[in-house]
Amino acid sequence: MKILEIDGNVPLTGTIRIGGAKNSAVALIPATILSNNKTTLTNVPDITDIYVLKEILEFLGVKVSDASSSMVIDPSSMKNKVIPDKLSNKLRASYYFMASLLAKYKHVKMHFPGGCQIGSRPIDQTLKVFKALGAEIKEKDCVFDISARKLVGNEITLDMPSVGATVNGIIVAALAEGETVIHNAAREPEIVDLADMLNKMGAKITGAGNSTVKIVGVEELDGCFHNVIPDRIEAGTYIILGALVGTYLRIENIIPEHIKTLLDKMQDMGCDLEINQDSVVVNANDNLLAIDIKTSGYPGFPTDLQQPFVTLLIGAKGKSTVIENIYENRFMNIPYLNKMGANIAVKERTATILGANSLHGEEVEATDLRAGASLLLAALKASGHTTIKNVEYILRGYEDLIEKLTSVGAKIELKEI
Ligand code: EPU
Repeated sequence: MKILEIDGNVPLTGTIRIGGAKNSAVALIPATILSNNKTTLTNVPDITDIYVLKEILEFLGVKVSDASSSMVIDPSSMKNKVIPDKLSNKLRASYYFMASLLAKYKHVKMHFPGGCQIGSRPIDQTLKVFKALGAEIKEKDCVFDISARKLVGNEITLDMPSVGATVNGIIVAALAEGETVIHNAAREPEIVDLADMLNKMGAKITGAGNSTVKIVGVEELDGCFHNVIPDRIEAGTYIILGALVGTYLRIENIIPEHIKTLLDKMQDMGCDLEINQDSVVVNANDNLLAIDIKTSGYPGFPTDLQQPFVTLLIGAKGKSTVIENIYENRFMNIPYLNKMGANIAVKERTATILGANSLHGEEVEATDLRAGASLLLAALKASGHTTIKNVEYILRGYEDLIEKLTSVGAKIELKEI
């Protein structure tokens, strides 16, 4: 197990450069295999989820070469095979291969995907899209056998704006016959990034970023060069860190528009932010005011920043409420934050935070990626020493974590026990 040893309450100064978006890259990589030609991705984050996708590609016979954040993917000699459960259960995004293999070979057999245990994460909406395009789905013991004589475009309304179902829908429709329209689609920037890449490859996708996306299928796709957009969740996490312990902490290589809801809420609380074209400079401020948030799909407050944001609310004066509308298990950081000195009560999907409280170091445990990020921020703010266990979760989504934090002055060490 990997652990983090952190001495907190150290002011952080300097610049943190944000990497490529995890949730974009994990969709772009499976989509590249729709073509038989090489695609080069740049600004690919150096995180463990990407290493797993690389293993899956290599298992399928795809040649992958990567060097300092760029990845060349050559599917010219790939084969359609059942991805071993031990790989597909490591991350949710493995099920984007369901769509790309189905689109390319009209047949895929795959296990139920993995992912952080943050709530029930069904895949019914993806299956609904596949069925609407003509696929037949057999399921036995969580293994899905999906085939289609041919895939034909259709009009589908998702029950909720699911990111995963929108990604899978776009991928599968890109090579289907005729026109597919997805209503109630997710609007996340990562969906736009996927459509941008596929359009460079020759796809005909319009409306990505809106709730209706139209895809006119094409017979084949070519390779392309594509630069992954910056990770808005990594950016938001470090901006919150700056509001906790920053002294002129600059977060660069970001698209502020992608985190507008976060920045607006932080400004309403009284955070000291200087928002530039592709960076934000933030200074800690002890006079923050309580605020309420509710998570929702983009452009609403992102569930992936809810847990890091709760850490900031601990130091804000008054009563804050946080309603988590996307996942029922995204309060698993709260018992540990309370152990560190917070006063937070959870009832169903609402957390009530009474502040301002100060934090002290403790031994805590990451239960999933963003819960881990929340505890990491708390540890960097707290007085004294904190040990965080199960750091593997955090390393799934934050590249060069130790290097980025130590470069701005944090006292943090990663150990293997
Ligand atoms: N849902 C269904 N049926 C489905 C799909 C989703 O009921 O077929 C429900 C889910 O249970 C959930 C909600 O709809 O309550 C949203 O799920 P969505 O499909 O939008 O999420 P996802 O595709 O599984 C992606 C990100 C998550 C992020 C969510 C929401 C990836 C690989 N994962 O998950 O990222 O929280 O969208 O924005 O893109 C993370 O990075 O820490 C993370 C968990």
